[in-house]
Amino acid sequence: MSNTICITGATSGLGQATARLFVKNGWKVIGTGRREDRLQSLKQELGDSFFGLTFDIRDRAQTFAAFGSLPENFAAVDVLMNNAGLFAGHGLVQNADMDAWERMVDTNILGLLHCTRTVLPGMLARKHGHIVNIGSATGTRAFPTGNVYGASKAFVRLFSDNMRADLLGTPIRVTCISPGRTRTEFALVHNDGDVESMEQEYRQGQPLLPEDIAHTVWWVINCPPHMDVTQIEIMPVCQADGGVRFQDVAR
Ligand SMILES: NC(=O)c1ccc[n+]([C@@H]2O[C@H](COP(=O)([O-])OP(=O)(O)OC[C@H]3O[C@@H](n4cnc5c(N)ncnc54)[C@H](OP(=O)(O)O)[C@@H]3O)[C@@H](O)[C@H]2O)c1
Repeated sequence: MSNTICITGATSGLGQATARLFVKNGWKVIGTGRREDRLQSLKQELGDSFFGLTFDIRDRAQTFAAFGSLPENFAAVDVLMNNAGLFAGHGLVQNADMDAWERMVDTNILGLLHCTRTVLPGMLARKHGHIVNIGSATGTRAFPTGNVYGASKAFVRLFSDNMRADLLGTPIRVTCISPGRTRTEFALVHNDGDVESMEQEYRQGQPLLPEDIAHTVWWVINCPPHMDVTQIEIMPVCQADGGVRFQDVAR
């Protein structure tokens, strides 16, 4: 009997690459997202090993109902990859768009909590499971305009560790993977669908590829059951910290 991974945000980027890798390696994959057409294309590509679940992770009731609707052969989730997320808005904290903040908090924090809380009890009942949360390199360092996005990813990082504290004494493993810049539709969403702005972001240096992160997920979940890779940060070679900033104070 093959194992099952549920990947939130499988309609593009890291989630889609991970779905492909796991099906190729004989796993069953539940892929989620709001774009049903994309999930249907993946189903056509990956066949019966793939099951698409269309729902918005920001909505608690929709999330519980979606997982409750899984057919029996996909219902026992061995790995949950909490991946769906986004960076919205370009504003500084003093003039940021509050709607963009809400979108990030509702998706990156609340959405992740909804999925975790729905799937975890089954893992505990089966005494088997691994939750892989996708954080970000921005979750541990400040940068201008990173205000709520970076803070939401800091939440993901600490929530992962806090889950481990609560789950001590159970066999459930929790991993937080924090990537640096990765070429996906992330920058397209961040730039409200403007392809040229996205290309500009990815033009500098060579970003990571979604497959780089997919292989990392594959590695952490295949470590021996007594071993839990708790936190990993992965950067493209072309990315490093900018250091402390100084600027004269305008009074
Ligand atoms: N790319 C990077 O440079 C980078 C770096 C560090 C961390 N990350 C993190 O990596 C994760 C994946 O991002 P990506 O780079 O693969 O971006 P992406 O290509 O834009 O994929 C984002 C995925 O999240 C899903 N999603 C967004 N909002 C959702 C909602 N409300 N309900 C359900 N699904 C939702 C999208 O599906 P639908 O639109 O179909 O709903 C999509 O499948 C995110 O958590 C992101 O913060 C990315």
